[in-house]
Amino acid sequence: MILETNPILELPFNSFEPNIDAAQQQAYLKHLEHGGVLFLPHCGFKFAADELRFLSSDWSDGKSKNIYLRGNERTIKGAKGNAEELAAMSALIERYSQNATSLVAHLLPSYMPHAKPANTSLRCLEAAGRKSSWRKDDRRLHPDAFPSKPTQGERLLRVFTNVNPHNQPRVWNVGEPFADMAKRFLPNVPTYRPWLAKLMYKLGITKTLRGEYDHIMLHLHDLGKADADYQANSPQMRFEFLANSTWVVYSDLVLHAVLSGQHMMEQTFHLPHNYLTYPETSPQNSIERILKRAI
Ligand code: SIN
Ligand code: FE
Repeated sequence: MILETNPILELPFNSFEPNIDAAQQQAYLKHLEHGGVLFLPHCGFKFAADELRFLSSDWSDGKSKNIYLRGNERTIKGAKGNAEELAAMSALIERYSQNATSLVAHLLPSYMPHAKPANTSLRCLEAAGRKSSWRKDDRRLHPDAFPSKPTQGERLLRVFTNVNPHNQPRVWNVGEPFADMAKRFLPNVPTYRPWLAKLMYKLGITKTLRGEYDHIMLHLHDLGKADADYQANSPQMRFEFLANSTWVVYSDLVLHAVLSGQHMMEQTFHLPHNYLTYPETSPQNSIERILKRAI
């Protein structure tokens, strides 16, 4: 089924520090929090000549699907190389992180300084052919929710940039509004067990305690990915994010699937729920409205 409204809003800016007036900022914020995508087709990330070597899947350690700098630690993970190479890769990813942060500060200034930078990644594996379990398969439509990383209701805001050097787009499907998906799958989410969450935390399965919100989000993520009929027939729209373009999205709210593409950079931010301008649009509030209780 085709999606009824186009969630993609195109922004004309060609840099990570666009000058924008307050009325525009408000419009972007509203679009984003209501499940839209802010798409900057002319905003690319510049590589220095000696950094182009890093646009290759050869730098992967073979275990992780991305090369990344973790939230606070900023040590490089998922990569192989000598000390010079790893330092240069880190510097590249760190520079992207600064650009992505600058973009959020310019587009969505009310989020600063509350948006907390989490991982920054460089993704050089081709998305189309990647082998993974169905649960990790991002070619299936899903809202983001991560088993080991509970957010306790904090939002997942992400900046993506297609850094493909061969002009290839990153192709996504964007799905139906979150609340529609939640209505469909919430009846199948098992009851939350606080004792089980505590046990998983004690055993190190989760980095922090998995609250009921995280429990539900994770099950919605899994139930949607596991349902072949949902994958094939739910409303969705195919979209090509061109090479040298950037897009900003609440990936916990916008259902997305990557169909193909290689070489992308990404910065995740966590935003505490109370800094939203339209909290009624959040996944948590949608879930609470459907369940008719607080979670
Ligand atoms: C994701 O599913 O969060 C990532 C999508 C992509 O790799 O383009
Ligand atoms: Fe995802």
